[in-house]
Amino acid sequence: MEYADLKGKKVDMIGFGTYKIGNGEVEKAVETALETGYKRIDTAVMYANEEGIGRAINKSGVKREDLFITTKLWTDVKTPEDVRKSVYGSLERLKTDYIDMLLIHWPTEYKNEVWRGMERMKKDGVVKGIGLSNFKIHHIEELEKEAEFYPEWNQLEIHPYFQNTETVEYCRKKGIVCEAWSPLARGAALNDETIKKIALKYQKSAAQIILRYDIQNNVSAVPKSTHAERIKENIDIFDFSLTASDVEEIKKLETNKRLYRDPDNHGF
Ligand SMILES: NC(=O)c1ccc[n+]([C@@H]2O[C@H](COP(=O)([O-])OP(=O)(O)OC[C@H]3O[C@@H](n4cnc5c(N)ncnc54)[C@H](OP(=O)(O)O)[C@@H]3O)[C@@H](O)[C@H]2O)c1
Repeated sequence: MEYADLKGKKVDMIGFGTYKIGNGEVEKAVETALETGYKRIDTAVMYANEEGIGRAINKSGVKREDLFITTKLWTDVKTPEDVRKSVYGSLERLKTDYIDMLLIHWPTEYKNEVWRGMERMKKDGVVKGIGLSNFKIHHIEELEKEAEFYPEWNQLEIHPYFQNTETVEYCRKKGIVCEAWSPLARGAALNDETIKKIALKYQKSAAQIILRYDIQNNVSAVPKSTHAERIKENIDIFDFSLTASDVEEIKKLETNKRLYRDPDNHGF
């Protein structure tokens, strides 16, 4: 495993994504992920699967302090009191007494008020880290004007076709951990001819090449799968390195077009 530096704390670069895995199926998937060696689980209130994840964690026998659980506040959270209620709901469903990283799922006009609530939860120790998701540079700058604690994390749409370079570089300069959501472009990048050619050269899968590219770019990632062999494959990327010329080739796949929603106009 390679690690992100979270204010001096080492955090696994690869976590397990759980979007669109329902409560029933997620239990098995997270059990498999934990058996395979994942320590970091990414969920959100919106995914409606925290209960299944809680069951898997409790069955697994992995010590809580060895895990890193991220969850996210949905866009209906508008006040510090809403934050408190949302976090306590997550804790109950996840059957745990703290969250490692709490993110604002999408920026809204209430983000600064929501951040105040998150800062309170951090001071109370119920939430260890606070961060963002889908925040562009201007959203971060609007937030920092009133923030007491600087954001620690930003989870963004990042894959070979939309590498989000400007925001990634900004976050890096500011010491914010940058994380790729939909790192495989939900499977769309796996049939790319350039990626497949590079995969052949290293005798790795297309998914492994993309995830390795992220790690070498200091971007953490949360690939999702419900298949045991893919779950295993996606974390097995630490025994090789891409050459500078292969990195350059993947860099050129940039289209500057998002495949998913624009944070300025997400409609949630
Ligand atoms: N913050 C946000 O707004 C936001 C938005 C979207 C996602 N996320 C997070 O990011 C995570 C990952 O994103 P995602 O789930 O949208 O997409 P993804 O991880 O890019 O891709 C998942 C898709 O790729 C397939 N897949 C995974 N590993 C594979 C492999 N090794 N070989 C072949 N196919 C493979 C999966 O199929 P199977 O499952 O059938 O194996 C699934 O169809 C989410 O689960 C969620 O935790 C966050």
